[in-house]
Amino acid sequence: MKIFLDDIKQQCETCTNCPLYKTKTHTVFSDGNINAKIFFIGEAPGENEDLQGKPFVGMAGKIMNKYLELAGISREDDLYITNIVKCRPPQNRKPKVSEKKACFNFLCRQIELINPKVIVLCGGTALETFIKGKKISDVHGQNIKIEINEKTYNAVPIYHPSPLCRVPDKQKITVDDLKKIFQLAQT
Ligand code: URA
Repeated sequence: MKIFLDDIKQQCETCTNCPLYKTKTHTVFSDGNINAKIFFIGEAPGENEDLQGKPFVGMAGKIMNKYLELAGISREDDLYITNIVKCRPPQNRKPKVSEKKACFNFLCRQIELINPKVIVLCGGTALETFIKGKKISDVHGQNIKIEINEKTYNAVPIYHPSPLCRVPDKQKITVDDLKKIFQLAQT
């Protein structure tokens, strides 16, 4: 499996399907365990992620690490982490539809290879990519079935850890959602 993931990673690193490759420092492909049962999808790399080539290593990542620890989840062992787009959008703007489309096939191939028990849709961008017309506030913590290349997966939306996502009680809600996700991954 690793050899196929390395192949996709290399294709991402040389991808010119959208303009984001022109302004990136590093392609941010993934972090974590390729044998994990939980596949975690964020939005896009920020400044720190772009500089280090790893997802969720900046402020949002630090907050997420805390939530994971409180939920009893090991970032290194229990998660495979990636984003909807692999290159940083300038000024951390939201990725455009065309950029998400250009990256979508890479993401689907990652999911197929990892074959997780649960996909975590972290934040609105990940949610709307797979589940249309729903708000995180209505569906966070719920197990929603999604289909990717004719295979059905469990997907659970959660709030994005970014400090910009201001929701009262977000820490408690998200830690509870992560605990449910961990349980679901053990089934
Ligand atoms: N926010 C995301 O959605 N992804 C990252 O990798 C970092 C911050």
